[in-house]
Amino acid sequence: MAHRFLSSTNRFSARFAFIFTVSLSCTYLCYSILFCRSTIMTNQGYEGKRCPPSKSAGGKKLLGKLDNCASLEVRSALEESAARRGSSDVRDQSKTPGSSGSNWADTKLRNMSVAQKYGNKKLPNALIVGVKKGGTRAVLEFIRIHPDVRALGTEPHFFDRNYDRGLDWYRGLMPRTLDSQITLEKTPSYFVTREAPRRISSMSHETKLIVVVRNPVTRAISDYTQTLSKKPDIPTFEELAFKNRSVGLVDTSWNAIRIGMYILHLENWLQYFRLSQIHFVSGERLITDPAGEMGRVQDFLGLKRIITDKHFYFNRTKGFPCLKKPESSSQPRCLGKSKGRTHVQIEEEVIEQLQEFYRPFNIKFYETVGQDFKWD
Ligand SMILES: *[C@@H]1O[C@H](CO)[C@@H](O)[C@H](O)[C@H]1NC(C)=O
Ligand SMILES: *[C@@H]1O[C@H](CO)[C@@H](O)[C@H](O)[C@H]1NC(C)=O
Ligand SMILES: *[C@@H]1O[C@H](CO)[C@@H](O)[C@H](O)[C@H]1NC(C)=O
Repeated sequence: MAHRFLSSTNRFSARFAFIFTVSLSCTYLCYSILFCRSTIMTNQGYEGKRCPPSKSAGGKKLLGKLDNCASLEVRSALEESAARRGSSDVRDQSKTPGSSGSNWADTKLRNMSVAQKYGNKKLPNALIVGVKKGGTRAVLEFIRIHPDVRALGTEPHFFDRNYDRGLDWYRGLMPRTLDSQITLEKTPSYFVTREAPRRISSMSHETKLIVVVRNPVTRAISDYTQTLSKKPDIPTFEELAFKNRSVGLVDTSWNAIRIGMYILHLENWLQYFRLSQIHFVSGERLITDPAGEMGRVQDFLGLKRIITDKHFYFNRTKGFPCLKKPESSSQPRCLGKSKGRTHVQIEEEVIEQLQEFYRPFNIKFYETVGQDFKWD
């Protein structure tokens, strides 16, 4: 048709027709590109509908909510490995996670890489807010073996030191998570930071808070031991703990003492959070019965109880529980070298004086929390 049109007109109109056709084609092309892109952008399910149906029932189950095309690569990888090991194997795994050590670890690793590639960074749903030397690192290391938990390994100190950097900075630190996973971080100094409860509740008043508490006297000695290992020339524990030892006047301005007055800090938190949003872990029971304590933590976070006594063994030399299968490692892992170090020797009389000092604070704390931690 264009040819016939060209032969029946003069040179000028032929050139005009050519330019007109080219610009029309260009416009059409641009529109198609724009339209196509906006379809993909506004409809996330678009690509997903073109994903081929999964061949293996086991693989499908494992993938759960991942049904868009982003998961295609992972899906085929999973199917491939399912085929290699036989799909009945995979099916068993998804029914009873944790029942079989190596399968469980495999799935966990695969789940982690799925989240790392396709998940999003979210503000934490839960925080371990304290207390220093209470056993917060242990709780973090134990809870993060749960497949539905992703935790930041370092302490971001956002609600105390880095608040000026803003929530976007904070979110940027977080690991990528799937929608079904909980984002968690721990910074033990939050518990004694005046502004922390207000700041956390302004991020979200639904935030779940975990506080690991321990006999405040043992905690203070452990705290001092840690400081002493870094600064060997500080005064003795007794000198720092008392204003006047002969009359039993305790120096409450010393941080190692102040942190253990749990009720005072808790009252500040209760101005912003309901008690039911705060879960207290006993640092003592965490050592004697880690599975029991972690069971309660999982309940509190609304997680299936996957971490059980199968995950722990007790190291008698160290006097601490160890994990059989820590995240991303097949080696057993105990608490770090610095954890559970032997404390400096403190006179029995000093310990009794401090127990006496803390008793009324402890009793008030038990009453408020509704739990007896048996420190007296
Ligand atoms: C893997 O992820 C799925 C979906 O989130 C979950 O149901 C399953 O328990 C996870 N399994 C392991 C072992 O991480
Ligand atoms: C401690 O208190 C006693 C009794 O009040 C007093 O005699 C003593 O001087 C005080 N010691 C110090 C170091 O302040
Ligand atoms: C137990 O702890 C000691 C001291 O930290 C360590 O040397 C040893 O390897 C641990 N044993 C096991 C089985 O974890």
